[in-house]
Amino acid sequence: MMKKISIFFLALILMFSIAGCGAESDPQTSGQADRVESETDTEPTDTTGADETELTYDADTEVVTNDKEPADEAGVFDLEQGTVLLNSGYEMPILGIGCFRLSQEEAENSVYWALRDGYRLIDTARIYGNEVGVGRGIQKAIDEGFVTREEIFVTTKMWTDDYDEGAAAIDASLDRLGLDYIDLMILHHSQPENDVEAYQAMEQAVADGKLRSIGLSNYYEPEDFDRLVNATTIVPALIQNETHPYHQSMGMKVHIAQYGTVMESWFPLGGRGNTQTLFNDNTISSIAEAHGKTSAQVILRWHLQAGNIAIPGSSNEAHIQENFEIFDFELSEEEMQRMTDIDKDQRFAGY
Ligand SMILES: NC(=O)c1ccc[n+]([C@@H]2O[C@H](COP(=O)([O-])OP(=O)(O)OC[C@H]3O[C@@H](n4cnc5c(N)ncnc54)[C@H](OP(=O)(O)O)[C@@H]3O)[C@@H](O)[C@H]2O)c1
Repeated sequence: MMKKISIFFLALILMFSIAGCGAESDPQTSGQADRVESETDTEPTDTTGADETELTYDADTEVVTNDKEPADEAGVFDLEQGTVLLNSGYEMPILGIGCFRLSQEEAENSVYWALRDGYRLIDTARIYGNEVGVGRGIQKAIDEGFVTREEIFVTTKMWTDDYDEGAAAIDASLDRLGLDYIDLMILHHSQPENDVEAYQAMEQAVADGKLRSIGLSNYYEPEDFDRLVNATTIVPALIQNETHPYHQSMGMKVHIAQYGTVMESWFPLGGRGNTQTLFNDNTISSIAEAHGKTSAQVILRWHLQAGNIAIPGSSNEAHIQENFEIFDFELSEEEMQRMTDIDKDQRFAGY
């Protein structure tokens, strides 16, 4: 029953959930340009352009060559395979290792341990300063025969300072990672003054074979997402936003599902310094006890069943292994509802 969750279904469920919980929105401060934005859970809105272009699918390259409508299966989570089909036509693992706040050496180790333990998704960013370490960890795992390049999915992000020089930023990330293509590159933050130009540089890099899929991070308003989509050609494959049991991002998930765009959760466990708040939540810890799992495992399993790609960060070998052991149990519908009910529309980060 849990084998496949269609985003369409998810959208319906989420719309009912939103109607039921009536969450208020909180003002959020963007650390990027001192903008004060309000995070709203809104009903999906009609999006200009959504019906205007046709999607074509190239079976040879597995690349969807455009445009505003998702492929029928886009956004479908396969919990047995641990993958989701992106609207770009590429399959992406739904559980990965996050590398925020890891040194070069820690990133190398974490990526190596993760690939050895079965992970196939890695998330880093230019601003983390560890792309070289990530590349070394990948190479070590390949050299030792745990994986091939084709089996893994590498994500990095373009930092806001680089938006005016997007093409050079992409080449620099490729160089630091030691790769000849990147599976997914995303813009790190919304920055209306020049994020369209940066996104267009990523579109050109898709055409050049340097990037396979492209997406966004830290776009919290449907209108902001639409601004970018309406000015560009390739629909974002995903949005990476702060998403966890206390900030379930329901409104944005419903909105982006119209495009077959999926949600990827940063701070999936609440982020460094906040994890105990979630781990000790009564609902989460009681569900964990019932399954003989840890709170971290229950939260990560919830992400996947809720249709969120999760990239827990860790420099701890045992935690990395623990976080991957979530494919041998399932949360019931009742448990998923209890998790839905603890949403507080509360972010832990201020950006
Ligand atoms: N796009 C963005 O703006 C943005 C922002 C933040 C993060 N991210 C991405 O999202 C990833 C995830 O976010 P995050 O790493 O900041 O936060 P997180 O994954 O929510 O939490 C990381 C914290 O959880 C701990 N942890 C991990 N597994 C654990 C386990 N099984 N038991 C107990 N503690 C555990 C880690 O400590 P140990 O090291 O001791 O395991 C670390 O302190 C990042 O690594 C990064 O790739 C993106």
